[in-house]
Amino acid sequence: LVEGNLNSFASTITAANQVKAQYPKLDGLILNAGVWNGYFKETADGIEETLQVNLLAPLLQSHLLFKNLEGATSPRIIITSSGLHQGVINFEDIEFRKKFSGFKVYRQSKLGVILVCRLLAKQLADSPVEIYNQHPGFVATSLGRDTGWLARTIFKTFGKSPKKGAETLISLLEKSNEELVNGEFYANGKVTKITKESYDLEMAAQLMDVCRNYLDPHLTGSSPIFP
Ligand SMILES: NC(=O)c1ccc[n+]([C@@H]2O[C@H](COP(=O)([O-])OP(=O)(O)OC[C@H]3O[C@@H](n4cnc5c(N)ncnc54)[C@H](OP(=O)(O)O)[C@@H]3O)[C@@H](O)[C@H]2O)c1
Repeated sequence: LVEGNLNSFASTITAANQVKAQYPKLDGLILNAGVWNGYFKETADGIEETLQVNLLAPLLQSHLLFKNLEGATSPRIIITSSGLHQGVINFEDIEFRKKFSGFKVYRQSKLGVILVCRLLAKQLADSPVEIYNQHPGFVATSLGRDTGWLARTIFKTFGKSPKKGAETLISLLEKSNEELVNGEFYANGKVTKITKESYDLEMAAQLMDVCRNYLDPHLTGSSPIFP
């Protein structure tokens, strides 16, 4: 087990380096960690936490571990997105510092995951590595653990079991890249059509530039994610 804290770039990099050293060959990356906060939290790097943990950290992990994937038979990166991704990216105030909303910042982070997956699938077209994102459904987990008793009760009462929530992810793992569609959003085990904004590659490119600005001081080496 390699432990790391995704709300710190230093810790994310240390953990990725440990994985690199221990496992020079990786079959895939499953980037599932995520947060939904009830109030504004700043990370060790001075960034709104949802943005860093849900979007910047998986991009950094993908960049750092990319080379280790290249020898695998069906190499892939799978990031957990969400059915909550409606709307657009708030480029004016991407961290929602002026008026914080845990709901909006979470929804934006998951739209961000979906957009960068679509963009990277095109960018990685010459690489054997494919990238997918998946929505587990509404699951009774500890997500939103600090958003108050009402949200906690709703998750626990109406969410499906974590075992059921893992089904889409497992179905992706059981298929080869040839059977899957690069860059796509998967829910209930299949490619699912979602909001028109989530297909906007111009918005995706603008978002990747913003992410690169955040990550630039921490990027070592180059990868097809951040050439
Ligand atoms: N539950 C749902 O209905 C639902 C729906 C759509 C999408 N999702 C997504 O599914 C994924 C898993 O969430 P979940 O529902 O299983 O919620 P959860 O029970 O709160 O699990 C979140 C996971 O992320 C890890 N994590 C959070 N912050 C981290 C950090 N700074 N560094 C490292 N790990 C961190 C947590 O580790 P610790 O336990 O050690 O803190 C935990 O393993 C998330 O991306 C979430 O957005 C969930």
